[in-house]
Amino acid sequence: LVEVLGSRSIVLVGIMGCGKSTVGKRLAHRLGLEFVDADSEIERAANMTVSEIFAEHGERYFRSGEERVIARLLREGPQVLATGGGAFMSAATREEIAEHGVSIWLKVDFDTVMARVRRRATRPLLQNPDPEGTMRNLLSEREPVYARASLTVTSRDVPHEAVVNQIIDAL
Ligand code: S3P
Repeated sequence: LVEVLGSRSIVLVGIMGCGKSTVGKRLAHRLGLEFVDADSEIERAANMTVSEIFAEHGERYFRSGEERVIARLLREGPQVLATGGGAFMSAATREEIAEHGVSIWLKVDFDTVMARVRRRATRPLLQNPDPEGTMRNLLSEREPVYARASLTVTSRDVPHEAVVNQIIDAL
């Protein structure tokens, strides 16, 4: 599998809380590839947290940094790359991913995702009085776009390890 990838990276896409980082780390370990988290790279490059970037500079600024960081990381493949939930909404980023990687959508249902994101207050998009409504809107807006990934893996309440196995089997 790793030989088939060549310099192409495995790129995990999907909504906040779908398990991109956890699944990505385990997948990378199983394949002997490096794991990279795009949000962490953005934080390192900016020397600020994602929440601070949103608060001080706004979402547009974050998105342009996100495009640049992902384009750079994709040239450093092969690796397993976890992207932030909004990254795949950018047409430019989708093109970069198509050129340098294989995209995988980790599809999860609303209840699973809400249970996971409630545990951590690190998502600026959900820091408002109606995180559930926001999540419903984000899902209906984004799912048709996530569906353009090369591969979709559905993980309804299954352990992350099972998702890793599904991905390895599907590839
Ligand atoms: C975002 C998802 C976050 C992070 C930022 C915006 C989004 O990443 O990039 O808060 O637009 O869905 P995770 O999906 O890793 O939480």
